[in-house]
Amino acid sequence: MSTEHPAEAEAPPVEPPSAPTRRAFIATTTAAGGGAVVGGVVAGPPVHAAEDAVAAEVPPGSRVSLTVNGVRRTVTIDNRTSLLDLLREHFGLTGSKKGCNAGACGACTVLVDGRRVNSCLTLAVRLEGAEVTTIEGLAKGDRLHPLQQAFIDQDAFQCGFCTPGQIVSGVGCIQEGHTGSAAEIREWMSGNLCRCGCYVKIERAVEQAAGRK
Ligand code: FES
Ligand code: FES
Repeated sequence: MSTEHPAEAEAPPVEPPSAPTRRAFIATTTAAGGGAVVGGVVAGPPVHAAEDAVAAEVPPGSRVSLTVNGVRRTVTIDNRTSLLDLLREHFGLTGSKKGCNAGACGACTVLVDGRRVNSCLTLAVRLEGAEVTTIEGLAKGDRLHPLQQAFIDQDAFQCGFCTPGQIVSGVGCIQEGHTGSAAEIREWMSGNLCRCGCYVKIERAVEQAAGRK
């Protein structure tokens, strides 16, 4: 009769976990969708999948034709391009300024088909056939637009950063007929901010160009 306690009986040897075979590794990798070595050839993802990945990295673009300051232009651009970036980065028209890039300051104001818009909030691809006027398009050769001259006469700027947007917006304000009084001008120019605080002189310049002075 054995005196050995059952718990102390010699346990059978434990087999160490076997390392995966090369064949099993390849099968697992292939099933996971990655590249694998098959018959000595490195196999990547299917060709159409690679093409899809490249297509996903290329942002969708569109061709658009518009007239800027009297010049017809046709470009192919990323669909997300703002009119402001199209003007500044594609056409080199840097007069329109990027202040807030969020529709809050008016520094980017241009005219589209005669209407004032914040070009930072306007998608360029939506402007097929449009007529765009920027600050660069107001003067006729050496002859300044009357509102540009009025800004000089009234000393209506300090640092000048807001000035292109103020002048284009003022041109729109005059064309719209919102110049019946100083208060009306202030109201209809209120979307254009001036951190230098030149508002009184800006309003006088608009009055002068509108023929009220
Ligand atoms: Fe467009 Fe400020 S930059 S509104
Ligand atoms: Fe400086 Fe208007 S002149 S922000």
